[in-house]
Amino acid sequence: MSAGNDERGYGWVAKGFHWLIALLILTSLALGLYAASLRDSQAQELQKVFEAFSVHKTLGVSVLILGVLRVLWMLTQPKPRPLHPQRRVETYVADLVHWALYLGMIIMPLSGWLVHSSAPGGFARILWPFGQRLPAVPQDPALSERFAAFHGIGWWVLAALIVLHVGGAMKHLVIDRDQTLARMTHGRNLEEPPKDSRFTKLTGIAGAVLLWAAVLVAATLAPREADPLFDETPAASQPAVTAPASATSAEAAQETASSGAPVWQVQDGTLGVSVTQGGNPVTGQFADWNANIDYDPDTQTGKVDVTINTGSLTLGSVSDTAKGPDFLNTTQFPEARFQADLLPPEAEGQPHLAKGTLTILGKTVDAELPFTLTIEGDSAKANGKMSVNRQDFGVGATYADETTVGFAVDIEFALNAKRL
Ligand code: HEM
Ligand code: HEM
Repeated sequence: MSAGNDERGYGWVAKGFHWLIALLILTSLALGLYAASLRDSQAQELQKVFEAFSVHKTLGVSVLILGVLRVLWMLTQPKPRPLHPQRRVETYVADLVHWALYLGMIIMPLSGWLVHSSAPGGFARILWPFGQRLPAVPQDPALSERFAAFHGIGWWVLAALIVLHVGGAMKHLVIDRDQTLARMTHGRNLEEPPKDSRFTKLTGIAGAVLLWAAVLVAATLAPREADPLFDETPAASQPAVTAPASATSAEAAQETASSGAPVWQVQDGTLGVSVTQGGNPVTGQFADWNANIDYDPDTQTGKVDVTINTGSLTLGSVSDTAKGPDFLNTTQFPEARFQADLLPPEAEGQPHLAKGTLTILGKTVDAELPFTLTIEGDSAKANGKMSVNRQDFGVGATYADETTVGFAVDIEFALNAKRL
C-alpha cells in the first residue's frame, strides 16, 4: 500500500490520520460532555471534574496538532475521485462535509484552547510539559465566555457533521454496496472512478467556510448564559463595597465604636483571596463586605470589625464550587468575620498589626494581619495581606491534600476611608 493517495483511493498516511483523529475526536466529544455533566451536577466533585477536563483538553490538543499535520498532508495529495459524480447533490454534500470536518478538527480544539487561555483564574491543566495558555490571549471573562459559546455551539455542528458523514459511509456500504468505505479501510485493486469535470473543490470549501462562519456569528450573538463557570456577573455588578447599614450615618457608626477612638468609614476598597488550584493561582474577590473601623492616629491603636458576605465571592471559573457545601458553604454560613485590635508599628516604617480572630464556617481562629496605613488629613489609605490555612476552618475538608486546592489562602485588602 502506498503512502500517498491516488484517484482511486487513500494511501496509508491519510488512512492513519483519518482513523486516529476520528477516534480522538469521538473520545474528546464524549469526555467534554462527561466533564460538563460532572461540573453541572449537584455533587460537584472538583477533583473528578478537573481530571475529566484535563484529559478532555489533552486529547483535544492532540487532535489540533494531528489535524494541522493532516491538513498539510491532504493539501499535497490528490483527492480520490467520487464514485458517483453524476449524483451531484450527494457528491456536493459529501465534499462539503469533508471540508467542514477538516475545518472542525482545527477550529473546535482551537476554540477550546482559547476558552482555556482566556479564563481568568484556575482551570484544569492540559497534561503536558509545554505552556498552558496560548500567547497574546487576554484573560477576560467576557471573552472567555464568547469562546465557550463558540465551543458549545461548535460541538453540536461537529457532531451533526459526523452523523451525516458516517450516515453517508453507511449508505455507500449498505445501499450502494460500493467501495467507498473500502478505500478508506483495507481496499485494494479498486475500480477506477469515472472522470467528471463538473466536480469542483471550491464550492465544497465555500460551503464549509460559511457553515463555521455561521457558528462564529451565532456564538457572538448568543445570549449570556448563567453558566456556573462564568457566574461573575451578579457579584461583579455590585459596587465593590457596600457601606454597612450601621456606618451609613455618623451616629450609627459611633454607636458601634467601642473604643471611643475616631470612626472611619470605608469609601471604597477591595477584599481579595487567592488559592492555588490544580497548580495554578486563582484570585477572587468578595464584592460585599463592610468594616467598622475606629482608629486613633495619636495612639496608633484602635479596633476593626469586618463582616464579609461569603456569597459575594467570585473566584475565577470555580466560584460556585468555592461557595458550595465542600468549601465556604455560603447558604449555611453566609457570613465570615474578622475582629481585631489595631496595634501600632513596632518600629518606624514597619506595618501596623491587626491582631484578633477570623471566623469562617462558624470556626474562630486567631489571626494576624499586618497592614500599612497612610493618613492625610481626614483620609486614610490602608492595605495588607495575611495567609491562613483553610484546614483550620474545615474549608474543603474533603480535599485533604493539596493536589486540587492548596491549603494556604491569601487574604488581601486595600481600602480608602474617611474620618467621620
Ligand atoms: C476535538 C476537540 C474538542 C471537542 C470535540 C470538544 C468538545 C467539547 C464538549 C462537547 C464540551 C462540553 C460542552 C458543554 O456541554 O458545556 C466541551 C467543553 C469544554 N472544552 Fe472542549 N472539545 C475539544 C477540544 C478542547 C480543547 C483542546 C480544549 C482546551 C485546551 C477544550 C476545552 C474545553 C473547555 C474549557 C470546556 C468547558 C467550556 C464551557 O463550560 O462552556 N476543549 N468541549
Ligand atoms: C470524527 C470522526 C471523523 C472525521 C473527523 C472524519 C473526517 C473525514 C474526512 C475529512 C474525510 C475526507 C478525506 C479526503 O477526501 O480528503 C473522510 C473520508 C472518509 N471517512 Fe471519515 N471521518 C470521521 C469518521 C468516520 C467514520 C466513523 C467512518 C465510517 C464509518 C468514516 C468513513 C469515511 C470514508 C468511507 C471516507 C472516504 C470518503 C471517500 O472516499 O469519498 N469516517 N473522513
